[in-house]
Amino acid sequence: MLDIQKIRSQFPILSEQINGKPLVYFDNGATSQKPQAVIDSIVDYYSKYNANIHRGVHTLSQLATDAYEQARIKIQKHFNAKETYEIIFTSGTTESINLVANGFESILVKGDEIIVSALEHHSNIVPWQMLCEKTGAVLKVIPMNIHGELIMEEYDKLLTNKTKLVFCNHISNALGTINPIEKIIKKAHDVGAAVLIDGAQACPHLRPDVQALNVDFYVTSAHKMCGPTGVGILYGKQEWLRKLPPYKGGGEMIATVTFEKTTYADLPHKFEAGTPNICGGIAFGAAIDYMNDIGFDDIEAYENELLTYGTKKLLEIEGVIIYGPNDLSKKASVLSFNINGIHPYDIGTIIDKLGVAVRTGHHCAQPIMDFYKIPGTIRASLAFYNTKEEIDIFVEAVKKAKIMLS
Ligand code: ALA
Repeated sequence: MLDIQKIRSQFPILSEQINGKPLVYFDNGATSQKPQAVIDSIVDYYSKYNANIHRGVHTLSQLATDAYEQARIKIQKHFNAKETYEIIFTSGTTESINLVANGFESILVKGDEIIVSALEHHSNIVPWQMLCEKTGAVLKVIPMNIHGELIMEEYDKLLTNKTKLVFCNHISNALGTINPIEKIIKKAHDVGAAVLIDGAQACPHLRPDVQALNVDFYVTSAHKMCGPTGVGILYGKQEWLRKLPPYKGGGEMIATVTFEKTTYADLPHKFEAGTPNICGGIAFGAAIDYMNDIGFDDIEAYENELLTYGTKKLLEIEGVIIYGPNDLSKKASVLSFNINGIHPYDIGTIIDKLGVAVRTGHHCAQPIMDFYKIPGTIRASLAFYNTKEEIDIFVEAVKKAKIMLS
């Protein structure tokens, strides 16, 4: 059982007032709030041991290097990667995906096929379209049904010996659907294709085990899971990371440089050109510690309770349509909805005045909105520090907005 009041007291921002009302922060899918432990790790770094890493012989540089590399080990353990060097620090999920897409430019040939799911965020669509344009590979899409679930029979039909890559998110940011990634990975491997899973929305809710999943690439961002913005990771199986060429050239990623030829550093540095987000990496480690101290089993159980309660309360409002799976066991704590005849933006603007923060719009997933023939949704994305009382405030705010707009 989580001690929610104690947890909430560890997040300074949760005591803020917005527009004169207590903040109800339901935009966790966009970014999570940060606990004091993570804020302290940032202040500590800049107050006590700020220095560049992997370069200096001096003590501060050693301290910073150790802290950064310790964070990498924490992340390795959290995701159960076999080797520490299979964790590459990036600026976030988008960069991680682009790094892999860039690498496959030298592997794919005309006529190869890559498969994405209909539930993807633009960051997991656009880099592959760019890759197809450059290589002549063909993009295929696993369709979804009305409940926002992927149609696995159609996926089976798309897989052939031409399939080289499959991309899918673990949890949909727009709808909260938990995708059957174990099956997706296994089936892709049966035809010899590699798989990249976008875990940006999954990692705040559950703890993925990359070895048990047998996934080739898994990517995520720190800021969705109580860490800072501007830092994330690419997990890659070492055989893949060795095969892919570097993404960016610069300092740190080289072994030797002459004007005739450069040789590249070993993993993970081959993919980490330039001075990285040192403080961000360290704070990501602090966020992983914080979330593991709370415990992902308890986080999952509590968020399921919030989802069930929120779904029930929201459906009491006449005209509400909630998108995503009806079977809540297939869904993370996301309430993506509309009210008949009212634009999502209008609801979002009014409830903001009442202190409630949600995201409205297409959520960087326009194909999903096109599927439902809607301009967007109102998305309340809940975290382990939210409460049923906040859900009540949110539902009352939506009711008020509905009356004002009807
Ligand atoms: N991808 C983030 C979201 O879903 C920004 O809001």
